[in-house]
Amino acid sequence: MCKAAPRHIAVTGASAGLGRALALAYARHGVVLGLSGRDASRLEACAADCRSRGATVVIATADVRDAEATQNWLTDFDAQHPIDLLIANAGVASTLAHANDWEGRERTANIVDTNFTGALNAALPVIERMRTRGRGHIALISSIAALRGMAISPAYCASKAALKAWGDSVRPVLARDNIRVSIVLPGFVKTAMSDVFPGDKPFMWTAEKAAHHIQSKLQKGRAEIAFPGMLAFGMRLLTLLPAALADAILGRMSYLPREER
Ligand SMILES: NC(=O)c1ccc[n+]([C@@H]2O[C@H](COP(=O)([O-])OP(=O)(O)OC[C@H]3O[C@@H](n4cnc5c(N)ncnc54)[C@H](OP(=O)(O)O)[C@@H]3O)[C@@H](O)[C@H]2O)c1
Repeated sequence: MCKAAPRHIAVTGASAGLGRALALAYARHGVVLGLSGRDASRLEACAADCRSRGATVVIATADVRDAEATQNWLTDFDAQHPIDLLIANAGVASTLAHANDWEGRERTANIVDTNFTGALNAALPVIERMRTRGRGHIALISSIAALRGMAISPAYCASKAALKAWGDSVRPVLARDNIRVSIVLPGFVKTAMSDVFPGDKPFMWTAEKAAHHIQSKLQKGRAEIAFPGMLAFGMRLLTLLPAALADAILGRMSYLPREER
């Protein structure tokens, strides 16, 4: 179902990659963008590009792991420009480079704190205000890696699966308050994050193509946006196989940390 195009949009992790491409995709006259990230200069560069397309832009250098700073930024922005669409996009990756590599407690916690808790640090205060208004849309940028754990990135897969599970859980409840929840499951998108991924990257999309695809599906109110289709289909198929067989297939596809030579 189509709805009015959002006018007040907040994007976390807008200083680079997919978040930047999403900000640019939405930037036009009449739109107010609230953009956050940690790197002030890259964020300002993104804001300037969005302003050149006619958008009004408010930026905030906020780390999504800092719940208070994230809440303060979003509630201040929302008080001025009631948010129609929040895109919880900020995220970090971690991959095991070789067979002896391992994600210990600290590394695992950082990934989960950013990708899962950080997304909720943004979503929860906004949802509270959207509930009062009785409208809004939350987009959670998860990953196709949420569909099946892979040995090459345990904490990342787990953090993205947790985000998907949370979104699926709250969607029916929030629908009663006229708040949509969309879970985005991108495959490989050409950004700094995918540039350092050591495994195969089939069907990789540009950030611009991914952003426009997400924008168009969000506009249709889709609950789940998984792309590209072939990769999403393949990952869903893996979940139907016996776990050991799925592990073996993923290993053959380079999603198992390489043995040292
Ligand atoms: N690229 C892919 O192939 C791919 C595939 C599936 C899903 N995704 C997801 O898409 C999202 C964007 O990834 P990307 O590929 O665009 O990566 P990217 O180019 O590395 O950009 C990540 C963005 O997140 C921000 N960020 C990271 N940690 C943050 C923190 N603690 N607080 C606030 N902002 C933070 C970064 O800004 P600062 O450094 O300025 O903080 C940057 O703007 C992530 O959630 C990622 O998991 C990406």
